Amino acid sequence: MAIFFLLCTTILLSSLSGKAVRLLEPYPSNPFPIAGSELSSTCVFEGDNGNPPERVKFQRKSGPFWSDIPDSDRVYQTNKTSGDKVTVTLNFKNVTVQDDLQFGRYSCVGFPQGVGLYRIGFAIRVTPREDLPVARVIPNMTVSYGDTARLYCNLTHKNNETTTPIEKVTFLKNGRPVRQTNDIMQPYILADIESRDGGNYGCLITVFLRTFQPYNITPTSTAYLHVRIRFPFKESKVVADVGDSVSLVCSAQGFPLNVIWKKNQAGSSAVIKPGGRFILKELCRYCQSVLVIQNVTAADSGDYSCSAFGHPGQHIFLVKVRSNSTVLIGVATATTTTRYVTAIFPAFFWIWWPF
Ligand SMILES: *[C@@H]1O[C@H](CO)[C@@H](O)[C@H](O)[C@H]1NC(C)=O
Ligand SMILES: *[C@@H]1O[C@H](CO)[C@@H](O)[C@H](O)[C@H]1NC(C)=O
Ligand SMILES: *[C@@H]1O[C@H](CO)[C@@H](O)[C@H](O)[C@H]1NC(C)=O
Ligand SMILES: *[C@@H]1O[C@H](CO)[C@@H](O)[C@H](O)[C@H]1NC(C)=O
Ligand SMILES: *[C@@H]1O[C@H](CO)[C@@H](O)[C@H](O)[C@H]1NC(C)=O
Ligand SMILES: *[C@@H]1O[C@H](CO)[C@@H](O)[C@H](O)[C@H]1NC(C)=O
Ligand SMILES: *[C@@H]1O[C@H](CO)[C@@H](O)[C@H](O)[C@H]1NC(C)=O
Repeated sequence: MAIFFLLCTTILLSSLSGKAVRLLEPYPSNPFPIAGSELSSTCVFEGDNGNPPERVKFQRKSGPFWSDIPDSDRVYQTNKTSGDKVTVTLNFKNVTVQDDLQFGRYSCVGFPQGVGLYRIGFAIRVTPREDLPVARVIPNMTVSYGDTARLYCNLTHKNNETTTPIEKVTFLKNGRPVRQTNDIMQPYILADIESRDGGNYGCLITVFLRTFQPYNITPTSTAYLHVRIRFPFKESKVVADVGDSVSLVCSAQGFPLNVIWKKNQAGSSAVIKPGGRFILKELCRYCQSVLVIQNVTAADSGDYSCSAFGHPGQHIFLVKVRSNSTVLIGVATATTTTRYVTAIFPAFFWIWWPF
């Protein structure tokens, strides 16, 4: 019988007596824990004639024999009887390499109210933590608009290629997969960088535990890709009529971007807080910031600016509100290639139109 067990991974032995116990699902699995982690394995036996089994317990093989597993703070069993069923759980508070298959298989045994037993065997295959790779994307980078960046997933601790080979590498941006490769040397290339490429990058490595079981190693550190702030347009002229709604679109691009709007008056400038006729729109994290002034009055004429917190540069808007309405289309400014188009009816709305 002992030889038979050595050969098979999962085995059921039949009872020798007429009375029986029956193993119920879920059967104990063959887990692949990492050293230092917690693990538990459960098995359920049902007795016959409405009676629970006499005893259910986990055992471990030592040499040719199955031995009881002594309870300790680290490894212990609990059981629960409910009707004719007994559920037993083997708990490991902190798996160590000593729990590995090479030091003995495990089994769950059900003893009926009589002679005989049922036994199901299983294996625990422990991977030492040092066999797992530790990787990170190379540290924070600041790049300019239009640049190309190469993000590498560098191993700060190499895996054990014999026991724990790398299956694939997944680059993550803000926690979401953006690229997968089987070659850890391959960088993730970001060409022609724009604002929306900015963010937090990490790499998730998938290994085969004991060359078999796929396992994802959650990244412990990430790298931030900053995109330098730029202002493609420095100055725009806006002409509006009293009562119009004016939309000023800040041309600032980059990441991360915190846009501040100001109204500049003779030697001083005041930060514009949204409220009343002033509405600030930032539709997304990477979107342009828009200042909408509703129902403009002559007093709204003046210089407005948008700038990025912590960065040089600004985009100035020279706003002129006319008190008398005339149809106005396509006011090109002298300083930029920006054109402003307004529709007169039904709503007055200024649109920023780069080309
Ligand atoms: C688990 O056991 C190892 C080795 O005995 C020890 O170094 C580690 O601190 C333990 N971890 C926990 C969470 O108890
Ligand atoms: C439950 O565990 C206790 C303590 O180890 C043991 O005495 C008892 O026999 C177990 N019950 C079953 C049904 O296995
Ligand atoms: C990387 O950038 C983030 C966000 O700007 C910052 O919180 C972090 O401290 C930076 N890390 C390093 C190593 O510079
Ligand atoms: C990261 O890996 C790449 C490619 O293997 C290598 O060229 C680069 O020097 C490494 N960077 C660091 C910081 O280790
Ligand atoms: C990899 O694991 C094998 C088997 O446990 C071991 O013999 C070998 O020394 C390990 N190699 C490294 C580089 O740790
Ligand atoms: C704009 O003017 C119209 C008509 O005078 C008025 O009904 C509306 O409430 C005003 N809106 C704001 C935001 O002041
Ligand atoms: C507005 O236009 C009317 C008629 O076109 C003109 O009589 C009036 O003087 C204008 N008012 C201002 C403030 O320009």
